Amino acid sequence: MQYSLNIREVTHALSGALDFVGIDDTLHGKRVAYMAAELAKSLSYPKESVDDIIFIGMLHDCGVSSTDVHTHLVTELDWNNSQVHSIRGEALLNTTTVYKRFSPYIRYHHTHWDNLPDSLSEDEKNISNLIYLVDRVDALNAQMRESGAKSVFAIQEIIQKYSGTMFSPQLVDVFMSQSSRDSFWFYLEEEALDEYFIEWVEKGSNEEFTFEIVKEIALMFAAVVDAKSEFTSEHSLGVSTLARYLADLFELSQETCEKIELAGLFHDLGKLRVDDAILDKPSELDTDEKLIMNRHGFDSFIILRHIQGFREIAHLASLHHETLDAKGYPYNLGSSDIPMESRIITVADIFQALIQDRPYRQGLDMNEAYQILYEMCENGKLDFSIVKKLKENLQMCYEKANVKYE
Ligand SMILES: [Fe+2]
Ligand SMILES: [Fe+2]
Ligand SMILES: [Fe+2]
Repeated sequence: MQYSLNIREVTHALSGALDFVGIDDTLHGKRVAYMAAELAKSLSYPKESVDDIIFIGMLHDCGVSSTDVHTHLVTELDWNNSQVHSIRGEALLNTTTVYKRFSPYIRYHHTHWDNLPDSLSEDEKNISNLIYLVDRVDALNAQMRESGAKSVFAIQEIIQKYSGTMFSPQLVDVFMSQSSRDSFWFYLEEEALDEYFIEWVEKGSNEEFTFEIVKEIALMFAAVVDAKSEFTSEHSLGVSTLARYLADLFELSQETCEKIELAGLFHDLGKLRVDDAILDKPSELDTDEKLIMNRHGFDSFIILRHIQGFREIAHLASLHHETLDAKGYPYNLGSSDIPMESRIITVADIFQALIQDRPYRQGLDMNEAYQILYEMCENGKLDFSIVKKLKENLQMCYEKANVKYE
């Protein structure tokens, strides 16, 4: 099937999942994109470059899945391990047709100006250093907000100090002049920033994308989610692959099968907002931790609902913890409101989770996992027709749920 999508809208929405990693400060990517674009405009960069810079800004931290890594990045000016997420980000973008051309900039967005390799073009040097500079401005601003310090002059002083070493002197100069305007900082506030991006998204237009191209983007974001914890590596990929396989066995239409596959890849986007410590906790979650954990299906919906053309996928993804007895979450829907598509994803989700190691138990073998699904059918939670289909193709389902990223 062809998908008619505004790629600005898609990227803006999905970058919200990357920003979730900041937990209660969820606009980092957007602030970086805004500041970089404004500096580029005052340097008279062509319009196409400014638009590319907005994409790069929103995606720059796609190599960060862990809340722990995120904390280092926003509390230390120059963190030793920052190359890890830059390299990971480059690799992730290289898996997609749509974002591939942004990968060199992401690779060097934490490299000092005087350390950038000669092999890079002028453009690559300038744009990656531009992202680096405004990224550090955002980190400094966050720290100072926290401490209540008077920030603008203090930030300017630090950036100026590293002119010619960490940052390009030309970029520092333009930052100094732009950041002297109050409005530069006012735009970092949520309401103004939202306006800025709504306008930018509206200026984009819809293009036709094949399922394969859309799937590459979904896979990239699934990989970001799956990298969050060693216990969930490959989870979204396995859920999606198994769900698609089951959908094909039921001979659902190709359009429905594709929807199920995409919803499977996106289903746990909301988990990026869950603190590492909760996700990796080796014992039972307490009531507060459960509340945080159990809202992730809803948060996946919050991200995806902004994408016209993904409304149904957003809905399906958000239902993956609903059960037919109306005791699931977050909506407590009953059997009459849970469509076949999400029933399939739910079965795939539970099966994949059962065969994977978790902090509190080893992965089960396929027969043990099936047994649990069967009991859940007996308790009125899962759709028996799906679990039966899984049982009839157990070995194959096990393999589908166990696939690895290439
Ligand atoms: Fe970064
Ligand atoms: Fe960043
Ligand atoms: Fe989930």
